[in-house]
Amino acid sequence: MPNRKDDLHQGADKVVVPGSSPIMVTKAFLPPRAEYDRWLDKVYASHHLTNNGPIHKELEETLRARFNVAYLRLMANGTLALQLAIRALGVKGKVITTPFSYVATTSALLWEGCEPVFVDIDPRTCCIDPTLIEAAITPEVTAILATHVYGIPCDVEAIDVIAKRHGLKVIYDAAHAFDVQYKSKSILAWGDASTLSFHATKLFHTVEGGAVVVHNEQHDKDLCLLRSFGHIGDEHFSLGTNAKMSEVHAAMGMAVLPHVDAIIVERRRLGEVYDRAFTGLGISLVAPAQHTHWNHAYYPVLLASGEGRIGMHERLASHGIYTRRYFYPSLNKLPYVREGTSLPVSEGVADRVLSLPFYSGMTEEVQHRVINAVKGVVIGDRHGA
Ligand SMILES: Cc1ncc(COP(=O)(O)O)c(C=O)c1O
Repeated sequence: MPNRKDDLHQGADKVVVPGSSPIMVTKAFLPPRAEYDRWLDKVYASHHLTNNGPIHKELEETLRARFNVAYLRLMANGTLALQLAIRALGVKGKVITTPFSYVATTSALLWEGCEPVFVDIDPRTCCIDPTLIEAAITPEVTAILATHVYGIPCDVEAIDVIAKRHGLKVIYDAAHAFDVQYKSKSILAWGDASTLSFHATKLFHTVEGGAVVVHNEQHDKDLCLLRSFGHIGDEHFSLGTNAKMSEVHAAMGMAVLPHVDAIIVERRRLGEVYDRAFTGLGISLVAPAQHTHWNHAYYPVLLASGEGRIGMHERLASHGIYTRRYFYPSLNKLPYVREGTSLPVSEGVADRVLSLPFYSGMTEEVQHRVINAVKGVVIGDRHGA
């Protein structure tokens, strides 16, 4: 199966199951039309469609206050957020990073001319294993780029100690970590920078969009220049690109935002229904450790083997239920990445993981179709079907 995010919205025409509509792995949340229209009316009234418009400013300020961070800049998407964070922090050379993430985590490093040094993951959290980081540090390593996978926090305290000891910058790919708290503080408070994705499939979205959080005024100023061609008016200061978010996208963000708390509560409830239904089936569930206020961004399960994962994926698909290998491949296996040592934990998880259908608005009837199909596969396998 091709590893493309577009797959989230594809496949509906692959299998025809009489009497039941296909169940996709996710479904983008849309706020009530009248609420979005009220924000669009403001865009029409201002004629300010992009370039740091009033809704863009309001969304930035609202998110800064929500996360209690001093500096947050909106970006056109989460990939440019990563690229600009790498550049604003002056990260160069080799960067220690996780092999278990979406491809953008690695491609952003390569795009910025850095060399990824992959360190294996902790099987309990699927995030980078801090106990393996120090052995990978060489004089050319300048930074650590780690992902809060599925919104589950990395071991930020251990990473902080290592980074300080070796003078390394830390960037967190927090694409999945909207509203996640660790020890009652936003997870975005950790590291030198965190990046967010507001893609349509994310828990909070602006259709396409993203943001960078930093904790230093100079980095914040640099991000503003980088995202807007490197100039202010007619004065040119640095090389830049176009990573601006439009007013129409920011308007979607303002319309989605009031619903986010309820979305997280709903996802927690849906997650608990799955958890209860899968108890005793021998499927491993992925969940955060202590002290975390999680956002229930995804519902990944780990099958006992790669064959088990293939069987589950195919048989659910035959019922019109579409799961996704999120993430696959382990990024050290990308065809354009230099061959390194093998990373057994990440490669093993990438082989066995499936994200089940999980989204706001998922009905009881739909969730029960998924549960029954999953149980049918596991019980069928036990009886050698
Ligand atoms: C972990 C991670 N990082 C980065 C990205 C890239 O974000 P975007 O699609 O907004 O460019 C994604 C998107 O799926 C992601 O899941």
